[in-house]
Amino acid sequence: MKDKDFLIGGALSAQQSEGAYDMDGCCDSISDHLTSMTKEKSRLLTKSINDEYYYPSHMGIDFYHRFKEDIQLFNELGINALRISISWARIFPHGDERKPNKAALDHYMNLIDECLYYGIEPVVTICHNDMPYALSETYNGWASKEVIKYYVRYAETLFQHFKSKVKYWITFNEINGAMLEGVGLFMTGCFKDCGDIFDIHTIEDNPQLRMQALHNMLTASSRAIICGKKICRDYQFGCMLLAYVSYPYTCHPKDSIAVLQNETLFMDYCADVMIKGKYSELACNYLKKMNIRLDITVEEMKIIKKGTVDFYSFSYYSSSTTSALNVVETIRGNLIGGGKNPYLDQTEWGWVMDPDGLYYFLLKTYSKYQIPMMIVENGLGANDIIEDDGRVKDDYRVKYIDAHLNAVQKALDDGIDLLGYLMWGIIDIVSSSTGEMSKRYGVIYVDMDDYGNGSLKRCKKDSFQWYKERVKSFRNIS
Ligand code: BG6
Repeated sequence: MKDKDFLIGGALSAQQSEGAYDMDGCCDSISDHLTSMTKEKSRLLTKSINDEYYYPSHMGIDFYHRFKEDIQLFNELGINALRISISWARIFPHGDERKPNKAALDHYMNLIDECLYYGIEPVVTICHNDMPYALSETYNGWASKEVIKYYVRYAETLFQHFKSKVKYWITFNEINGAMLEGVGLFMTGCFKDCGDIFDIHTIEDNPQLRMQALHNMLTASSRAIICGKKICRDYQFGCMLLAYVSYPYTCHPKDSIAVLQNETLFMDYCADVMIKGKYSELACNYLKKMNIRLDITVEEMKIIKKGTVDFYSFSYYSSSTTSALNVVETIRGNLIGGGKNPYLDQTEWGWVMDPDGLYYFLLKTYSKYQIPMMIVENGLGANDIIEDDGRVKDDYRVKYIDAHLNAVQKALDDGIDLLGYLMWGIIDIVSSSTGEMSKRYGVIYVDMDDYGNGSLKRCKKDSFQWYKERVKSFRNIS
């Protein structure tokens, strides 16, 4: 593939698509302990797998067995990139083994080869909000520095194995999720002290533990990058952040200051470490104010300085408003909510739709960090209806994606070094926040309901043909 081909395609994660959670020597991941829930009720984590609950990741959409059929459909769309994630628990079932599971490496080799066969560039996430369950049980997840060693062993295995086949790597998905109170402990696998069954969104926060775990992840990311670059100089590494876009609710200066403060913390804390190789003074001051004392060694800071990323990748779904006086009605969003915006509509799940926010984020972030950027998640979760004739008339999805692609085009026209746009859930997969199947993102419909009933048959939605044409316009193919 030429260096400058714009990457246009789709994105998935292992735990939301693969299923086959206990096959070929795989052990359970944290995500295999998450129950299915609804818009109104958030997911529970049960420490033992309990017959009373349905665990959607166990079946996913059976991508593990059907990837050939699915990639053929992706090829029909004409896409040239697919973001996948590798399940750590398939490669190292308990996380701390010395030798990888060969069957799992073979599986991913087949999957990657299948992509390459069709000229689809794989963009690989090493860790997508997940880890072998045993690591969280034994080590309290990222709370322990031991886990850094296991992550690097896992990453190195992938780098050696897929050398010359994969160019783009993402070390952690939405690593800044660890900044969030409560749920950040779930994101870092630190829930040893929680009860046998708990709601992942209402964990009692422990900022000291959470921020230490985040530091351990940041160190692991840098160590993996250093190791990867030694194995293959052409490897390109990305940080992956959940984009926070919020507008001041009024022109009161305090509203603007509140937005800036949130952004500095939620976005730049991690970005500065991963891109500039250091904790900013604002970050250090924040830790001090919070009375958090991180265990950071001089050696780790050297690693962080050296193991910086090549590109800034991010997920973007929605925006919010911020009012210093908290006078605004609140809305939900991707892990972070905020204030309602009277100018913007919301999805059925209450996420605000704001294509301008994507352009705004690209402009702001590119001028700040000046490194290539990649949109690795964006899409609309909707309750699609399949008609009697088998059609899914998802014009709302076309409208959403089209507007966001216009923002992408505008950014490209401005000269922003944007590597690609990967639509989230190009095929319907299990929702991460609720575990529902009915929150669908794909241009390909999968016949399965929220409880795993259905034929799993794939069919093209109306948006399929439209995306195919739109992909052409980005690839300059007529
Ligand atoms: C991102 C995650 O936070 O948002 C994905 O990286 C997730 O895994 C996506 O699926 C959309 O969220 P949801 O909850 O609608 O699936």
